[in-house]
Amino acid sequence: MKLSLWYYSGAGNTEFIARKVSKRLVDQSHDVTLRRITAQSIKSAKQDTDLLIIGFPIYDLSPPDLVRELVEALPAAKRPVAWFCTKALLSADSMRGLMRLAQAKGFFTIAVAEYTMPATDMLAVLAKKGSLTEKIIKFFHSRHLNKKLGVFISAMMRQNPIKPPKRKWYLHLERIIPNSIKRSFHGQFTKLRPLLHSIPENCEECMKCVMACPRNNIRFEERIKFGSTCDLCLRCFHHCPTESIQIGSLTKETVRYNKVCL
Ligand SMILES: Cc1cc2nc3c(=O)[nH]c(=O)nc-3n(C[C@H](O)[C@H](O)[C@H](O)COP(=O)(O)O)c2cc1C
Repeated sequence: MKLSLWYYSGAGNTEFIARKVSKRLVDQSHDVTLRRITAQSIKSAKQDTDLLIIGFPIYDLSPPDLVRELVEALPAAKRPVAWFCTKALLSADSMRGLMRLAQAKGFFTIAVAEYTMPATDMLAVLAKKGSLTEKIIKFFHSRHLNKKLGVFISAMMRQNPIKPPKRKWYLHLERIIPNSIKRSFHGQFTKLRPLLHSIPENCEECMKCVMACPRNNIRFEERIKFGSTCDLCLRCFHHCPTESIQIGSLTKETVRYNKVCL
């Protein structure tokens, strides 16, 4: 079978799963094209394979906008699609929302998987290197990963359409949570965006961050500069070899986490 696997990934959790899924499919003699979802790559999105697989992380209870943009960019077709996401704790209605969006374009879902992985946001802003917090955050990841991957791939091979999942139960609690509490949690991370900066003295000008940014939001003009279209995926932050990229003064001694090497 000819498959294309599109994935969006910041620190690398989703890329890690994408590579594993791809390897298993290649081992079963399928022809897999692995593509990173970026502002550039979705411009050439077409539907020329037997099966589409889309992998994405959860940021602030939602999929990154680029994943929605990819689905919107794909030509409408009655084709099967399989989805997986990586999350730290709560994925809310991310999967359901994307499935419905794709359904409106004719796609039908045949497999879904959610993988729990270390919280790349919490590691960046809360966990000091070598601390107990780092150990606790890294402890939370999907157990029996190989088994879960096997179940996901078997569902893909069966090709039976499945319905979007029901609304997550905890979203019903939203009505009873006071707005003041909601406001203090929701969107907190977006406030960190303007604090991202690179320290010129530490920067080796390796351009890794420029190439890694899914939004082409980082450029080099005498020094590294950030634009205003950051998804806060933290790909630049976690993969900077000299830790020159910081979020205000919050992250001076915190963990850099590389699930995959870029
Ligand atoms: C800005 C930001 C916000 C996040 N928000 C959530 C969230 O709402 N729910 C959740 O379960 N995980 C959340 N996470 C954790 C990521 O979903 C998780 O670590 C994921 O595996 C990251 O994948 P990646 O390394 O491919 O980007 C967030 C991470 C970041 C960077």
